[in-house]
Amino acid sequence: MTDNVTIERENDVATITIDRPDNLNALNVNTLKTLDHALDETEDARALVLTGAGEDAFVAGADIEYMKELSVEEAMAYAELGHEICDRIATHSAPVIAAINGYAFGGGCELALACDLRVASENAVLGQTEIDLGIVPGWGGTQRLSRLVGDAAARRMVFLGERLDAEAAAEIGLVGEVVSQEDLDSVVEEMAQQLAAKPRFALAAAKEALNQVHEGPQSAGLDYEKRLWSGLFGTDDQREGMAAFVEKRDPEFE
Ligand code: COA
Repeated sequence: MTDNVTIERENDVATITIDRPDNLNALNVNTLKTLDHALDETEDARALVLTGAGEDAFVAGADIEYMKELSVEEAMAYAELGHEICDRIATHSAPVIAAINGYAFGGGCELALACDLRVASENAVLGQTEIDLGIVPGWGGTQRLSRLVGDAAARRMVFLGERLDAEAAAEIGLVGEVVSQEDLDSVVEEMAQQLAAKPRFALAAAKEALNQVHEGPQSAGLDYEKRLWSGLFGTDDQREGMAAFVEKRDPEFE
């Protein structure tokens, strides 16, 4: 594929790699749309792996350069796109493994949260860091994080914008396991091949049933989150937080 996303196949396992290393694989609109297309292309896979290109990042988040001047309406469209991708991963008929090979911040952490399983390399760092940009998680993070790690740990991460190393992330259940950087690909590949060998329809049913645990109230929560997130694009703090990042200085919030 072109445009910052690649697909590789090994038997029934497909690996989708976000490939924008110059921006630490941050997700701009074009990359999100290509990722959407990649999910179409891999509908027939029996297991799916999602990872980032390079040594440093899984996905460093939504694209701050792009977001910094968004209006409330434009932010809603960006939230819709991010939610759509995360929902597609969460409801993909195959199990999806996030191979977290480095930074997974903001939208990158949310992308990992939408996956069924998360394996991190020792150098991974994860966080819902949006608060320091004057916003909140906007691609499902507030809902999926809380359900995965519990309310207290989620509040701590979202309120403080903490950046957790892989071991700390494993301690709260944010990632299932931590392996060395050099072993990440082989561990994930073996897990994916094992999943691909399971009965396809049973696995899809298992995923659908497990997803039901979170249905209803979660979708209402996701909608609520979208409105809150895009509403923050009317605040000075959002402009300041993102401008400060791009200008490489500390933000001065109101
Ligand atoms: N959006 C857009 N660009 C991003 C980005 C993002 N989320 N994260 C990193 N980049 C870009 C940087 O602007 C920089 O581009 P430049 O070389 O043109 O200046 C490049 O990626 C490398 O990042 P840099 O900050 O120089 O690398 P670092 O190793 O010093 O720090 C991070 C890496 C991940 C700690 C730091 O980039 C960071 O904190 N990123 C923002 C994370 C974040 O808040 N994400 C949530 C967004 S919702």
